[in-house]
Amino acid sequence: MKTIIEPFRIKSVEPIRMTTRAEREGLLKAAGYNLFKLHSDDVIIDLLTDSGTSAMSAAQWGAVMTGDESYAGAPSFYRFEAAVKDLMDFAHIIPAHQGRAAEHLLFTLIAKTGDLIPSNTHFDTTRGNIEAMGAEALDLPIAEGRVPSLDHPFKGNMDLAALERVLKAEGHRIPAVMMTITNNAGGGQPVSLANIRGAAALARAHGKPFYIDGCRFAENTWFIKLREEGQTDRPIKDIVRDCFAVADGMTMSAKKDAFANIGGWLALNDDALAERARTLLIQTEGFPTYGGLAGRDLDAIAQGLKEIINEDYLLYRVRSNSYIAERLDAMGIPVVKPAGGHAVFIDARSFLPHIPPLEYPGQALTCAMYEAGGIRACEIGTVMFGRKPDGTEAPAAMDLVRLAMPRRVYTQSHADYVVEVLEEVAAAKDTLRGMSIVKEPPMMRHFTAAFERF
Ligand code: F0G
Repeated sequence: MKTIIEPFRIKSVEPIRMTTRAEREGLLKAAGYNLFKLHSDDVIIDLLTDSGTSAMSAAQWGAVMTGDESYAGAPSFYRFEAAVKDLMDFAHIIPAHQGRAAEHLLFTLIAKTGDLIPSNTHFDTTRGNIEAMGAEALDLPIAEGRVPSLDHPFKGNMDLAALERVLKAEGHRIPAVMMTITNNAGGGQPVSLANIRGAAALARAHGKPFYIDGCRFAENTWFIKLREEGQTDRPIKDIVRDCFAVADGMTMSAKKDAFANIGGWLALNDDALAERARTLLIQTEGFPTYGGLAGRDLDAIAQGLKEIINEDYLLYRVRSNSYIAERLDAMGIPVVKPAGGHAVFIDARSFLPHIPPLEYPGQALTCAMYEAGGIRACEIGTVMFGRKPDGTEAPAAMDLVRLAMPRRVYTQSHADYVVEVLEEVAAAKDTLRGMSIVKEPPMMRHFTAAFERF
């Protein structure tokens, strides 16, 4: 069949409140043209993030009711631990309330001032946790990963020659090597199994542990199955296990590829490090069999992990992004190619060449999308990255707008609607104006800054 349908039926629904353009113009103005400040019930299609926004299955809601809320030793923990180990066979599985909490545990224990931690590309919270320890987070993506219009099967790969150079020259400063799958900051792009193995081998050769940020491991594995030689006929679970078999540990946000609304974990093979992590966990998150979560959350994750590796789901999941990306591309809207696993990224800088980077073309586009159709997307560009620690401002490397797809939430007609709204925005794109920031906090300004239109 030509149409890849949503491989689920809908039993429980949430209403969408429809709004008029005039209403949305007023709401956006009152929010200082910052979409983070909107109330979510004023949004028609919410593509701000794919994190924690999944629709849970009937089986997950059923598992929630079996959650055991005992402080210590709850069966929910053991079900969670078994589900994780079925895919990622690490010695120690340490639950945490979300991905950044796992990162905080890891980097508090392994990083110190002056250290350097290379990755394909660190996610913001990973970078934040590394920098909070006084260490440097170094991104080493392949050159193709930095060119939005270029098609490449594994644009999330790490530049292994650069990794080797840095391990040789700066080895004394490097406590670990990281790999993010998929590479979110780089456009939701996958990393090949060969690249994961290559990075792990280099780390091992230099005596360094290798950690995977596995937030979107299932989407990454699907791309490996689709695109990597020798992988196409293998079961997803085998490929997942191969990805993690070469790692010494992982951090995870269960808000992504575990279909949960909250949760995460740190997994480790090093017994001594795991013991230190559990001690810190007790101090900051909770006892090691719940780690800041309710027992019911652990059961939702355990069930979610069984569902996320379903091939019909993964086929639909990745297709729902490429469907939108292909249609935008056909309309001449520049998108990051190929479409990523969890999001479609629009290159706002080339879409709106009359708006200079320091007038925030990405922000102008997200505002126009909200006004035209009530769509909430996220600027990933000069608003997010333009303010430097010394107070100066410079254009970010790219001005992108991310349309992140919540898992199992929207249907194909919602996707058609998104495309139609962008068609309307594109028809009037030359009339869109740049923006200025009228108020901003000292850091992380994109969450709270207020804007005005020129
Ligand atoms: N690593 C990656 C690759 C992520 O995308 C995220 C979160 C985290 C770690 C942190 O996990 O949110 O559970 O603490 N990404 C979300 C996003 C917020 O919208 O891309 P968390």
